[in-house]
Amino acid sequence: MSEERKSGGGWIRSLCCSILKAGHIPQHVAIIMDGNRRFARKMQYSRVFMGHIQGFDKLLETLEWCLDVGITELTVYAFSIENFKRSKEEVDGLMELAKQKVTKLLDERDLIMKHGVCIRVLGDLELLPPDVLSSVARAVNFSRNNDRAFLNVCFSYTSRNEMTHAVRTLAQGAADGMILPSDISEDVVERCLYTGDSQPPDLVIRTSGEIRLSDFLLWQSSYSCLCFLDVLWPEFSIWNFFSAILTYQKNYSAIQEARENHAQKLEERLYQLNKDCVLAQLDERNKDGVDLEDLVLEYGRHRKQRVEQFIEHIRTEHRLFLERVSPIC
Ligand code: FPP
Ligand code: MG
Repeated sequence: MSEERKSGGGWIRSLCCSILKAGHIPQHVAIIMDGNRRFARKMQYSRVFMGHIQGFDKLLETLEWCLDVGITELTVYAFSIENFKRSKEEVDGLMELAKQKVTKLLDERDLIMKHGVCIRVLGDLELLPPDVLSSVARAVNFSRNNDRAFLNVCFSYTSRNEMTHAVRTLAQGAADGMILPSDISEDVVERCLYTGDSQPPDLVIRTSGEIRLSDFLLWQSSYSCLCFLDVLWPEFSIWNFFSAILTYQKNYSAIQEARENHAQKLEERLYQLNKDCVLAQLDERNKDGVDLEDLVLEYGRHRKQRVEQFIEHIRTEHRLFLERVSPIC
């Protein structure tokens, strides 16, 4: 529990929290936790790496704030594939930090189970050192059936890598005959992303004053509220957090409208795609006298079945991969 709460000074915070809860609370928040090293320099720490350690503590604090206001999903950018280009000392340090913190987290598994938190690690996991992979897989495996809150840690992640991986997965599915090339729609690509089990984020926050997404959730954030804050990540306060939620609330109607328009266009496009496939199967002779509408619906049902089986297949493959690298204990 924070010092402010322990000292009883948390009543203003509780009041603000209640006021915010009277409005729309984002269900899924994503954060680019930037500015750790600048923070360490600013504080004149002897080691710049101290910034990352404080950054991790801030992540845990933020998770607590999310649970308090009713945000059920938090996705954080913890390590970009680009970060592998940093000095060996920093990369090794971040890997070690991840391993240690996951081990500590596993010691507190009762707390995680009590809150029903499902931990996911999203990214190109094969790029991780085997010991780090094995420990993150343990955290994912033991919490995988929890469904009250979700913590998605993007580790060894970039959006471009994620999209490339999705395209490869789909190409393989088509080559294996599990899906047809014409089954590939926007919706199916989305489900093949590392974030395929989640709804897109409602609110994306970036700290440190940089105004860019740096290859983070590029696909998923098309209809999200983007909030760039001029504060270094370890300094991110509950007031910064509340102000970001307020920005979301101010933009809520416009975001919803854009999302609904997009969903409707997707549905229309899918119907047209199904119709084109049916028409391509019918030749001129047997077009007469058929109920086209029925055939399109029937085709849509089969397509859905193929897609669901394929998605189930890739989820199972991923689960088995994680079990292989870290057998469930
Ligand atoms: C960006 O700040 C932060 C990172 C590259 C690492 C983020 C990691 C954590 C918050 C803690 C570790 C988390 C886990 C789950 C192990 P920066 O290094 O780019 O700092 P700068 O922008 O000031 O240079
Ligand atoms: Mg940075």
